[in-house]
Amino acid sequence: MPNPLYGQHIISIPDLSNEQLECLLDTALRLKQAPRHDLLEGRLIGSCFFEPSTRTRLSFETAVQRLGGKVIGFSDGANTSAKKGETLADTARIISSYTDAIIIRHPKDGAARVLAEFSAVPVINAGDGTNQHPSQTLLDLVTIQETQGSLANLTIAMVGDLKYGRTVHSLAQAMKRWNAEFIFVSPPSLAMPDYITEELDAAGCRYQTLPSLEAAIERADILYMTRVQRERFDEQEFAKIQGKFNLEAAMLQHAKPNLRVLHPLPRVDEIHPNVDDTVYAYYFEQAKNGVFARMAMLSLVLNETV
Ligand code: CP
Repeated sequence: MPNPLYGQHIISIPDLSNEQLECLLDTALRLKQAPRHDLLEGRLIGSCFFEPSTRTRLSFETAVQRLGGKVIGFSDGANTSAKKGETLADTARIISSYTDAIIIRHPKDGAARVLAEFSAVPVINAGDGTNQHPSQTLLDLVTIQETQGSLANLTIAMVGDLKYGRTVHSLAQAMKRWNAEFIFVSPPSLAMPDYITEELDAAGCRYQTLPSLEAAIERADILYMTRVQRERFDEQEFAKIQGKFNLEAAMLQHAKPNLRVLHPLPRVDEIHPNVDDTVYAYYFEQAKNGVFARMAMLSLVLNETV
């Protein structure tokens, strides 16, 4: 029987069944333990980045090359015919006629789903607007599993821009399946959207909003930091919250021993460099897990068995 991802698009976490998500997670962990070099031999992958990226693009492209495949693509949509007004539907038809799978990052919510609709080959969403970032979520799950030994019944504090941050939306939708408890810490104007909290209610997950980072740190197993984007505030408003959602090493003195600090990166000033040398920092290892997560995604959509 083919694996449950074979020939499928990977567009959002809610689209994935528990069986598919567990298969992705198990495969990523397995590829980390026992590297393979043949799973994409003879395959050509389209890497289509309409929005800037360091980790996602380069770890996807690393994954392809380490598995024996080849990559074509672009890292700036301004150099493509999208600039001349070509639709995503036509872009999908063309690139899928050249390649075996397409990876897309795009600034518009829903762009990956549109591309998938018109693509003849599997499409993997590498981040669409404020919506979803499923490959980030898979690497986050790999990281949480390897640092906590299990995904079940953990307390996850999510800090920063919870409104526009696609990584926290996807991660909350995944971790609700393992009965996570959530602590949200953000400026009120960047609170977690209602559609996510409604999903948590429906899943019976507990969540609360706390005003300060310190209170969240004491209770959390995972502290998931994200960037508060200065450009979303006027200067006066930003001055009121500046520093309130920034983590420094001294704030971790009452942390649980198993706490690990994660961040999808890039960071600006929300994690002080003095946290990097603490036992709690795990964001660089987390980014490294991106290669194994993306190896799993590509291998599973392109091979009946992995
Ligand atoms: N975490 C993440 O998506 O990073 P990049 O924007 O560098 O890809």
